[in-house]
Amino acid sequence: MTRTNLMLCASLAALGFAASAANADKLTLYCSAEEEWCQAMARGFEDATGIDVNMTRKSSGETFAQLRAEASNPKGDVWWGGTGDPHLQAAEEGLSQEYISPMRDQLHPWAIAQAESAGNKTIGIYSGALGYGYNNDLLAANNLPEPACWKDLLKPEYKGHVQMANPNSSGTAYTTLASMVQLFGEDEGFEFMKGLHANINQYTKSGSAPIKAAGRGETTIGIVFMHDAVAQAVAGFPVTVVAPCEGTGYEIGSMSIIEGARNLEEAQKFYDWALSAEAQNLALEANSYQLMSNVNAQSSDKAPDMSKIKLIDYDFVKYGSSDERKRLLQKWDEEVSVLPQ
Ligand code: G6P
Repeated sequence: MTRTNLMLCASLAALGFAASAANADKLTLYCSAEEEWCQAMARGFEDATGIDVNMTRKSSGETFAQLRAEASNPKGDVWWGGTGDPHLQAAEEGLSQEYISPMRDQLHPWAIAQAESAGNKTIGIYSGALGYGYNNDLLAANNLPEPACWKDLLKPEYKGHVQMANPNSSGTAYTTLASMVQLFGEDEGFEFMKGLHANINQYTKSGSAPIKAAGRGETTIGIVFMHDAVAQAVAGFPVTVVAPCEGTGYEIGSMSIIEGARNLEEAQKFYDWALSAEAQNLALEANSYQLMSNVNAQSSDKAPDMSKIKLIDYDFVKYGSSDERKRLLQKWDEEVSVLPQ
């Protein structure tokens, strides 16, 4: 080959590469589960399909706010993970779109019920119960009794020892607020939140942050989903997981295709793949201990046993509705968060 031919080949190859890069299949993924699991899902989908994934992790309430802010010029394609309530609110507000996946017949009824209550604009991908965890060493060092119930957390000796997330940004914390209202009734539920506020040392942005802080010894107790507390214990931190004695709420972690998605075909491919047992088994490699929605997905023997936890009949339709979520958050902002500590 002459030098000119070589150069021609090289520039054609470069051109070809540029053209294929411009046309490369891609997907913008908004993720609201744990970062490690979000990364595993993004890389797993890339490996399975060759579609490039641009993933960002934000808490559930924050992602909902972002979808709303971007509604006139949507930038995301799929919102995967995070508590179901803001996904339901997004469906109601037209921020997500209908899709019926061929994978649906492989799912548990609770995952499909979530879809059916929202005009098929969202679907359940995992489930997990709310609770809390505490750092055994700090509890002992501070001579504190072992808490077992929600109402134990109101005791004055726990002042400054309890951490939870802010229910505006975090789906975990909104689930806490809505669970207390359902467990104790609205008036008593808000009294509980006010009493708890007096013992809170910090409201974090992300739902799992309080138990990570407890693992590191920065707070004694963290109110989180029980599977997030299990993850800390499995990672070797001195954390005990509590299923509160009065009973507790739970989440149906959800997935939605964003209205106006620029990469709709890729979004539907991701959606179908994310409902497969193969994709859902990635949770096991990412230190995530939820119950998965595909009946054939495996769950870890370390996952909290949902059948042994006293669960309330969480009303997802009501507490995921736009009016109710707005009303409860506003009431918490006005009546709880402003109280002195
Ligand atoms: C953690 C849990 C998930 C939950 C999510 C909500 O990642 O493992 O099960 O859906 O928190 O996050 P957020 O930050 O919105 O509370």
